[in-house]
Amino acid sequence: MNNGYDIPALGLGMWKLPEGDEAETAVRLALEAGYRLFDSAAWYGNERSLGRSVRNSSVPRDQVFITTKVWNTDHGYQPALQAFEESYRSLDLDHVDLYLIHWPVEGKRMDTWRALETLLEERRCRSIGVSNYLVPHLEELLDRSEVIPAVNQIELHPWNYLSRKSTVDLCNQKGILVEAYSPLTKGRMLRNRGLRDVAEACGKTPAQILLRWGIQHDFVVIPKSSKEEHIGENAAIFDFELSERHMDLLDSFDRGLATGWDPTGKP
Ligand SMILES: NC(=O)c1ccc[n+]([C@@H]2O[C@H](COP(=O)([O-])OP(=O)(O)OC[C@H]3O[C@@H](n4cnc5c(N)ncnc54)[C@H](OP(=O)(O)O)[C@@H]3O)[C@@H](O)[C@H]2O)c1
Repeated sequence: MNNGYDIPALGLGMWKLPEGDEAETAVRLALEAGYRLFDSAAWYGNERSLGRSVRNSSVPRDQVFITTKVWNTDHGYQPALQAFEESYRSLDLDHVDLYLIHWPVEGKRMDTWRALETLLEERRCRSIGVSNYLVPHLEELLDRSEVIPAVNQIELHPWNYLSRKSTVDLCNQKGILVEAYSPLTKGRMLRNRGLRDVAEACGKTPAQILLRWGIQHDFVVIPKSSKEEHIGENAAIFDFELSERHMDLLDSFDRGLATGWDPTGKP
């Protein structure tokens, strides 16, 4: 990242992994499968389970990268500081590697960013960044802050890549690492004919093709799964390469698909 810290290229997305057994087991299985990055958020309600599973694992804490995020209702300087304290206590993992503004909510987002700057200065977290920031949100932040976000986490997959390219380009230009969320389109496009053709040609699964596509665009990919076979399958993406022709073909699938909340609207 632009601050000298490393971040793993693959992580476990933790949205919709309910606190308790499901989240704890998924984290344990992912650690066993070699995942070293976990993407949580106050909103996901599973920081306690993430912390417990990492503490119970034999993988040393300094080999694990923990991301969490400040939620929309906690924008503003003091509320964001308070929200961080709550996440920090819930995780109970010595430090937070990356703290993100979850959404660029209108109004107090620059005050929230100031709070993240304070957390960084006070070394409460190692890196700070943003999520769902498009070009206008990034320009506002870059105009008004000396601290460049380490990361911008946005929805990215072949069905929206070209539509998001101006954001990706600005991030690349400013040294902001791009994290691709919902890299599997929440499962919606896994049966797509064009994708299946590429998967068959490469002898890989459609999910592996989407994740490999993200890696070859230099995105960090954070697929979610609670199933052991999927967690393993999604990690087996470092032993093959997509050709330029396949990358171009996948890029051409764009149709502006937003599988979740569309940041071009107002959150
Ligand atoms: N910053 C934000 O605003 C934001 C928004 C959305 C997501 N995110 C982050 O990004 C992460 C991933 O995004 P996501 O959860 O929206 O969706 P996703 O990772 O694109 O897709 C998850 C879905 O795909 C299924 N799946 C996983 N691996 C599979 C495989 N190999 N074959 C077939 N199906 C598979 C999962 O089901 P099973 O569990 O049954 O495997 C689940 O239904 C989130 O968990 C979260 O950490 C961030």
